[in-house]
Amino acid sequence: MDIQLLTHVEKQSIGERQPLPDRYLRLSDDEMDERIVAAKGTLGERLVILGHHYQRDEVIKFADFTGDSLKLARAAASRGAAEFIVFCGVHFMAESADILRGPHQKVALPDLAAGCSMADMAEEDQLEICWRELAELGVDVNATVPVTYINSSAAIKAFCGKHGGVVCTSTNAAGVMSWAWQKGERLVMLPDQHLGRNTGYKLGVPLNRMAVWDPHEIGGGLTAEQTRNSTLLLWKGHCSVHTRFTGQQIDAFRAKHPDGKVIAHPECTFDVVQAADLSGSTEFIIETLRKSPKGSVWAVATEIHLVNRLMHELAPDRTVVTLDPFGCLCSTMFRVSPNHLLWVLEGLVEGTIHNQIIVPEETKRWSRVALDRMLEIR
Ligand code: 13P
Ligand code: SF4
Repeated sequence: MDIQLLTHVEKQSIGERQPLPDRYLRLSDDEMDERIVAAKGTLGERLVILGHHYQRDEVIKFADFTGDSLKLARAAASRGAAEFIVFCGVHFMAESADILRGPHQKVALPDLAAGCSMADMAEEDQLEICWRELAELGVDVNATVPVTYINSSAAIKAFCGKHGGVVCTSTNAAGVMSWAWQKGERLVMLPDQHLGRNTGYKLGVPLNRMAVWDPHEIGGGLTAEQTRNSTLLLWKGHCSVHTRFTGQQIDAFRAKHPDGKVIAHPECTFDVVQAADLSGSTEFIIETLRKSPKGSVWAVATEIHLVNRLMHELAPDRTVVTLDPFGCLCSTMFRVSPNHLLWVLEGLVEGTIHNQIIVPEETKRWSRVALDRMLEIR
């Protein structure tokens, strides 16, 4: 059963997110679609639209490229001919595109309120304090490598670039963390403790060699001994969407579908990932389900738009359900509405770029170092 997301109420209040001119409110779906197609046609090769898998159907259908964070970062770094990259995703993704784009390109995000609560859990000054406090606790910071999930601000990425660190995504986290352990004896993995713990454990790091660094506590809330004993320091951040999934939901699914399989995004908790059959990025989830045997039944622990899309695409040969019966919505991904997309595209046709994402030069230089290191790791 589809979980309905675009309600009538939501359509009425669309301008309450990022304000839109009145003429972009209360458009019929058909008119909006026709005008988006027309604007895309007029802009032609000057425009490329990138869409993350969590985008709603009414938006993603207009994307020229869809993908997970890694695929979309590579698309931006490919520096194609297009002058405008319109990023249908969240703010850190558009920032990464601005860092990686060519000099002839500009990046726009249809709704500037489309942030990521996880990315907001790590601030530059908190990371600077962490580095200082680690040194005070007797940790050799020169042998400590900061690894940031791409779900972080450009300033955090720049810190990692400056301190010999790197960016990772959910697709390449294992490869990137292995690379980082060749550079230093200890990693600080931020902002997502769950991706860090799940990946570290997969790479053979025991849980007792990991500790959680709480940026709101003095010394991360850890003793000097706990800190020095850790091979992997996990920043206390999480995704509020993926941490909704639970082991009890897996038990309930298995009771109903004894032959069913569970696949979870690595932003889910350790317990959920351990209890699942498989875990991986959105791209991995899509590929795995598409290649799965006919007749198979899947519970998917990730954002509801992707789950609904897979459910439709793969029916009736395969059964796909959301692990959380109420569905897990990323409310910030959802902010990118077709109305906002149309406003940005028609602005470009008229010669105005709305919501351009511009990362300051110095931040760009160092965050690029961290992103380039990631893109070079295979
Ligand atoms: P993927 O890179 O797996 O698509 O995950 C992106 C993400 O976290 C958005 O939450
Ligand atoms: Fe951020 Fe979670 Fe939404 Fe991904 S699903 S954009 S990590 S809040």
